[in-house]
Amino acid sequence: MIVDLSGRTALVTGASSGLGRHFATVLAGAGARVALAARRRDSLDGVVAEIAASGGQAVAVPMDVTDVASVRDGVREAAGVLNGLDILVNNAGTTVSKAALEHTEADWDGVVDTNLKGAFLVAQEAARVMKDGGKGGSIVNIASILGLRVAGHVAAYAASKAGLVQLTQALALEWARFGIRVNALAPGYMETDLNRDFLATDAGQALIKRVPQRRLGKLPDLDGPLLLLCSDAAAYMTGAIVPVDGGHLVNTL
Ligand SMILES: NC(=O)c1ccc[n+]([C@@H]2O[C@H](COP(=O)([O-])OP(=O)(O)OC[C@H]3O[C@@H](n4cnc5c(N)ncnc54)[C@H](OP(=O)(O)O)[C@@H]3O)[C@@H](O)[C@H]2O)c1
Repeated sequence: MIVDLSGRTALVTGASSGLGRHFATVLAGAGARVALAARRRDSLDGVVAEIAASGGQAVAVPMDVTDVASVRDGVREAAGVLNGLDILVNNAGTTVSKAALEHTEADWDGVVDTNLKGAFLVAQEAARVMKDGGKGGSIVNIASILGLRVAGHVAAYAASKAGLVQLTQALALEWARFGIRVNALAPGYMETDLNRDFLATDAGQALIKRVPQRRLGKLPDLDGPLLLLCSDAAAYMTGAIVPVDGGHLVNTL
């Protein structure tokens, strides 16, 4: 991967597991100094230790993205320890899988407060730091193909990700004048520890057949698009929503 982020600083939210943990490792591997944010401090410390053992530089920053004070403190702490902030990967997210008629108010608030309000609060605080730093920056929001099309049993999640898609474009418009680029990755279904058992079932196999490439994504499939959007190679890209989904969005009707 020929992207050099040496000298750059990055904050990754939701870095205690899954995609965020992977993104933090990839950015550190490309030379960036990385702050990892989430609520589970023990898990963050484990990832930080792994990155350090591989020769990377990382710090853990406790943060609840739904709490404006926690976001402000976490982003400021990250920028202070890293001595600036060039890149934000706005990845923290959650979901609820149940029929729309079964969604409770708490289900809705939990998903939308994390995936949409939380992403806004973190982007806003990071943009303040980037603007004050005078060098601009790159914000990569982690949306989903469910922000662009729908599936059953994920109404709050799909609505939150559609909101994040529109938020990405709104912030790109407003912050271009500060040299801040705002783009989104829209991953398709990624193979993780959480869904490996489901994928072996008939329903899981049927899902895979709906993906034109006939497979789910693997975490490294996201590396190239992530590094592109984070780096100067994407200097003229802002407001872009980039699906990484093996063609799932363009499957036949
Ligand atoms: N997996 C997929 O197939 C897929 C596909 C498309 C998009 N995505 C998106 O990718 C992102 C990561 O998903 P994942 O699959 O990696 O899920 P995951 O393994 O459950 O990770 C979610 C991360 O978000 C953090 N988080 C949740 N609520 C938070 C809060 N209030 N404050 C701070 N951090 C919070 C969690 O950390 P703590 O619990 O420690 O706070 C965890 O690190 C999400 O935005 C998701 O929508 C995933």
